[in-house]
Amino acid sequence: MNDLTVMTPQLQSRLPRVGTTIFTIMSALASETGAVNLGQGFPDFDCDPALVDAVSQAMRAGFNQYPPMAGLASLRQAIAKKIENLYGAQYDWNTEITITAGATQAIFDAILCCVRPGDEVIVIEPAYDSYIPNILVAGATPVTVAVDADFNIRWDAVAAAITPRTRAILVNSPNNPSGRILQDRDLAILESIACEHDLIVISDEVYEHMVYDGQPHRSACRSPALAARSFVISSFGKTYHVTGWKVAYCAAPAVLMSEFRKIHQFDTFTVNTPVQHGLAAYLADPLPYQNLASFYQHKRDLFRTGLANTRFGLRPCEGTYFQLVDYGDLAVPERTLPEAQFAQWLTREIGVAAIPLSSFYDQPHEQGVVRFCFAKKDETLKLALERLSRL
Ligand SMILES: Cc1ncc(COP(=O)(O)O)c(C=O)c1O
Repeated sequence: MNDLTVMTPQLQSRLPRVGTTIFTIMSALASETGAVNLGQGFPDFDCDPALVDAVSQAMRAGFNQYPPMAGLASLRQAIAKKIENLYGAQYDWNTEITITAGATQAIFDAILCCVRPGDEVIVIEPAYDSYIPNILVAGATPVTVAVDADFNIRWDAVAAAITPRTRAILVNSPNNPSGRILQDRDLAILESIACEHDLIVISDEVYEHMVYDGQPHRSACRSPALAARSFVISSFGKTYHVTGWKVAYCAAPAVLMSEFRKIHQFDTFTVNTPVQHGLAAYLADPLPYQNLASFYQHKRDLFRTGLANTRFGLRPCEGTYFQLVDYGDLAVPERTLPEAQFAQWLTREIGVAAIPLSSFYDQPHEQGVVRFCFAKKDETLKLALERLSRL
């Protein structure tokens, strides 16, 4: 046999700058060092056993083959009802809602179906880490616009970044990592910019049920003009403490959704049948998602109250299960480290894992801030606070 026949071809990477994500690195470091893992965003507690029962029942009842391509009718009907009750927007469950393999797939498919090579997509930074690689794989160009020092969107900078090639804008409220939420004023400006420049809006609302202090979640679908040009995406993983199930949904007007499904049909086709049955049954009761804000607000308050006794600086947390902290006033020499090194030091030496804020920016961006996830048992948060109070 000629040696050439056993040579692996070289690939020209589609994402040459992408390596292992910081979330994987910090989780691995946390388990290696026995640190409390407040890095990656997932709960360390179980979901409601009733939800597991509903899924197991569906499996035992034989719902184990492909469901319809767009998702189970009963689940899509329940979602359409929920959206109408909460936000007053009417989506046709049959033509305007699709069940996806996590919000990650929904975001990617929304991008893939609306951009062409050479198009530009506005990304507001700090941003969830999949957006930019998704845009690049779609052959489009991400155009980043950083928020201000208080994590408010600089709409004048967004407007200035728009060119004739801009096709879409990605927004995320409640925001990971900043914990900020869009206000009415933000939505009004987004609407006027999107309408003026005929943009598609991809609205990542996976933390829609985690908004605190009595504030409402302002979904892009609340306004008919915005809903008419938006893909609105949410995730059961976040809402029901089942991030590993990777089931989410996307709602959009039929003309947008029919293009979305052309991609979904061939990159995913269908999503886990028994989980969809279980979710459809569970979603009939609004209480679990209605109670989510108070459930997490308690954890937020516990965590913030503990941190208030340390030298960490607390940023506002209006939503999500993330808390940003400034570490520049700590009484240790490591307070001057860049964020990634500080997060590693904190994990190794203090025993609490965090995520550097810089990992949510495409270009180097140091602010002396790290992100903690408070979707943890109260005892986990207390243990982390005990360790952090040494600083
Ligand atoms: C802002 C944001 N969007 C999307 C996702 C992905 O959601 P899913 O796990 O449903 O794919 C996450 C998960 O952390 C997120 O924080």
